[in-house]
Amino acid sequence: MNDPVLPGATLGILGSGQLGRMLAQSARRMGYRVHTFSPTADSPTGQIADRETVAAYEDLDAIERFARDVDAVTFEFENISSAAANAAARHGPVRPRGEVLHLCQNRWREKHALTAAGLPTAPYAAVESLEALLAAIARLGTPCILKTAGFGYDGKGQARINTADDAVAAWASIGGGPAILEGVVDFAAELSVVAARGATGERVDFGVIENRHVDHILDVSIADAPLDEAQTTRAREIAATVMEAFDVVGVLCVELFVDRRGELLVNELAPRPHNSGHLTIEACASSQFDQQLRAVCGLPLGDTTRRQPTAMANLLGDLWADGEPDWTAALADPAVNLHLYGKAEPRAGRKMGHLTASAASRDEAVRRVRTARAALVRASNP
Ligand SMILES: Nc1ncnc2c1ncn2[C@@H]1O[C@H](COP(=O)(O)OP(=O)(O)O)[C@@H](O)[C@H]1O
Ligand SMILES: [Mg+2]
Repeated sequence: MNDPVLPGATLGILGSGQLGRMLAQSARRMGYRVHTFSPTADSPTGQIADRETVAAYEDLDAIERFARDVDAVTFEFENISSAAANAAARHGPVRPRGEVLHLCQNRWREKHALTAAGLPTAPYAAVESLEALLAAIARLGTPCILKTAGFGYDGKGQARINTADDAVAAWASIGGGPAILEGVVDFAAELSVVAARGATGERVDFGVIENRHVDHILDVSIADAPLDEAQTTRAREIAATVMEAFDVVGVLCVELFVDRRGELLVNELAPRPHNSGHLTIEACASSQFDQQLRAVCGLPLGDTTRRQPTAMANLLGDLWADGEPDWTAALADPAVNLHLYGKAEPRAGRKMGHLTASAASRDEAVRRVRTARAALVRASNP
């Protein structure tokens, strides 16, 4: 199927969180109709979409009905089963291919595919039992990190192992399932490259983004990481290699570490728009969500040039601990933009929205976005 899916057609989004919401915003701006498949009603994507099917991802009949009703399917939720992706593919194009999703869902498959593509990662070992874990710790050394092979996000399903004595507790804490053990990278910085590949193989990327995490959750992202030219080129080449090796049509994000020697290592992949790419909505003429839409629909890709230094700060549910954040105070700086995802319940650690700021320099953008976020917390009354 190489005919483009043109404006006026219906885009189907499997999943219904903030990534789908921002994709739906791009799609509606370009005149598409949007139908989201969501396990819950009034979801972040459903609030923007023309239609919201509420059903479980395991309900393959519902998936087929949904796919029949739309002109192209993409996903924003990574843990869609292969069976669901295949059911959708019986009725029209699914992009990226279900196989890409299947690969990235599981840290074993993903790491092996990266290694097979000749790409550098932290040292790792697949472990299926406590005995295998102990052997892997002996081989990789400490410190290391144990991660569940599937269903991890925002540092969930991970346990750090500082000495071999931590092994039993770590194995129990991740539920003792199939897992991967990784050597801890003493990184100088965390980076990401958000890239897009069109149906005809055309490729673009948004350069290298610097990411700062707090408690394993992304906190701040800044466009144009301060790397030397060779490192920047290398990071973008790594993303290109992944896109080609996996034959991705759509957006994919490569998370990277740069270690103390300046070497780049791949941490993990996300076969979809990524939290670190949210700043492209304001920073670039055509955002990561615009690229996703264009790639999925078989249209030419857009301009990813960064217009101004831009930084993004996540808004987690913790900011609601003492009541509604002070939106007026954050928006007092006209350089600041607010994005809220329409989630009713502000739980701790839950991504509720983000702020961006553009300014004359990177440092200035970071300072302004952080200041705006700090202003959200009301001074408690004496
Ligand atoms: N091997 C590692 N060495 C050092 N830090 C790591 C390693 N793996 C993960 N981390 C830290 O934990 C964060 C979350 O881990 P990640 O593998 O990206 O899982 P997810 O984002 O799916 O929760 C990373 O961004 C990084 O800060
Ligand atoms: Mg990650």
